[in-house]
Amino acid sequence: MAHIGHRVIGVDRDPFKVESVLAGRAPFFEPGLEELVRTGVESGRLSATLSLADAVRVADVALICVGTPSERHGDLCLDQLRRVCQELAGLLPGRTRRLIVAVRSTVYPGTCEGIVEAALDNPALAAVVANPEFLREGAAVRDFMEPSLAVAGGGDEAAVRQVAALYTGLGVEPVLVSLRAAEFIKYACNAFHAVKIAFANEIGALAAESGIDGREIMDTLCRDVSLNLSASYLKPGFAFGGSCLPKDLRALVYRASRFDLELPLLRNVLPSNHAHLERATALALELPSERLGVFGLAFKENTDDLRESPVVQLLETLIGKGRKVRVFDPHIQLDGIYGSNQRYLMNAIPHIGNLLDGRLESLLEWADHLLIAQKPPQAMLPLLTASGKPLVDLVGALPHGLPRGAQRPESLTA
Ligand SMILES: NC(=O)c1ccc[n+]([C@@H]2O[C@H](COP(=O)([O-])OP(=O)(O)OC[C@H]3O[C@@H](n4cnc5c(N)ncnc54)[C@H](O)[C@@H]3O)[C@@H](O)[C@H]2O)c1
Repeated sequence: MAHIGHRVIGVDRDPFKVESVLAGRAPFFEPGLEELVRTGVESGRLSATLSLADAVRVADVALICVGTPSERHGDLCLDQLRRVCQELAGLLPGRTRRLIVAVRSTVYPGTCEGIVEAALDNPALAAVVANPEFLREGAAVRDFMEPSLAVAGGGDEAAVRQVAALYTGLGVEPVLVSLRAAEFIKYACNAFHAVKIAFANEIGALAAESGIDGREIMDTLCRDVSLNLSASYLKPGFAFGGSCLPKDLRALVYRASRFDLELPLLRNVLPSNHAHLERATALALELPSERLGVFGLAFKENTDDLRESPVVQLLETLIGKGRKVRVFDPHIQLDGIYGSNQRYLMNAIPHIGNLLDGRLESLLEWADHLLIAQKPPQAMLPLLTASGKPLVDLVGALPHGLPRGAQRPESLTA
C-alpha cells in the first residue's frame, strides 16, 4: 500500500511486529517484503504503532486485517474482530470526518453487518465495506502488485468506491458487489481452490494406480480452456444428468475401488448431485400448486436425450406423491423418440404420453405454477414471463429469475 503511494500506519498489539516495521524490517519472511518495508519506512509513507487511537486520528480508511482462526468445531473465531471493532467504536466520537472501515479479514457473510456495523453504529462517522484479501503467502507481494481479483462490497456506494480506489494503478478493475457477496466470494474462491487441488490429486492417484502419468492427464485437461478451465459449468443451476456424466463417474469410482483406492471427492459427486435434485424436489412439493407445469424434460436444452434426466426423476417423485403435473419440452414429441431413450422414459413414467403437452401455450393455460427445469429458448422467454404464472426457475435461466433455493417458494415469482 505504501509502495503504490498511500500513507500507511500499521497497527498491531504485538510490540515485536511494530518494532520490526519501525526499524524497516519485515516481521516475518515473505519474498520481497523486507525491501518494501525498508523503502516504505525510509520514504516516510510507512510507519507502525501499538496505538490504534494514534492511527485512527489521522486515517481516512481503516483496513481490518486481524486473524479469524478456526474454532474447534470449525466455525471461525471472531474474538479479534469484535475487540478491534469495540476499540474503533470508542474512537469514532473524537473524529470530525467519516472513517471508512474496510474488512480485509476473511469473515463469513453477515459478519460485517452483525459485528462491524453493529459496533460502529454511526453512519455519519463510519461506513463499512467488505474488501476480502486474495493474496497467497509466499507470493504475497506479487499477488498484491498484480492482483487476479479485487472485490469491494457494501451498501454505501461512495465508501465502496473509495475502498476500490485504493487499488488504482494495480491493473485490476475491482468488482463492486453487496456486502454479503463480498464476504462470500472469498469463501467461494478458497473452496474452489481446495476442490481443484483435491480433484487433481484424486485423478493423479487413480492414474498412478492405472500406470498412467497423472501430470500428463491434468496438463492435457488444462489445455481445454473452453470447457475445462473456463466459466463453463460454473453457474448455480439444476442437477446434471444425461447419458455420460453419471455413467462415467460411476465407472471411475468403481475402478478406483478395485485398487482399494479411496476417492472421497469423486465418490461424493453423484450423491451431491442427488442432494441437489432433492432440494429442487422439496421446493416443488412445497409449492401451493394444484396444477404444476414443468418446462423441460430432457437433461439439458437442445437435446431430446432423456436418459438419466434429473427432470424425469423429479417428475417420478411428484407423480408418486399425487401431484398434478404436465410437461412441455421444445424438443420432445413422444412419437419422435425411440431406442434406449424411449425405454428409459417408459420405464420411469409409463403414462408420460398423458402428461406431455405439445404446445407451450396449452401448458401455460393449464398450469397455476411453472417449474423451469431446462433453459428455455430465447424465443419462448416472452411467453413464459408474460404468462403471469408464478415461476420457479430451477436452472437460473430467466433474466430476473431467482436461483433455486435462494428464496422460499411463495416469493419465487417472476
Ligand atoms: N495469510 C494469508 O495469506 C491470508 C490471505 C487472505 C486472507 N487472509 C485473512 O486475513 C486475516 C488475517 O490473516 P493473518 O494470517 O495475517 O493473521 P495473523 O494472525 O497472522 O495476523 C493478525 C494480526 O492481527 C493482530 N491483532 C489482533 N487483534 C488486534 C487488535 N485488537 N489490535 C491490533 N492488532 C491486533 C495480531 O497481533 C496479528 O499480528 C484472516 O482473516 C485470514 O483468513 C489471510
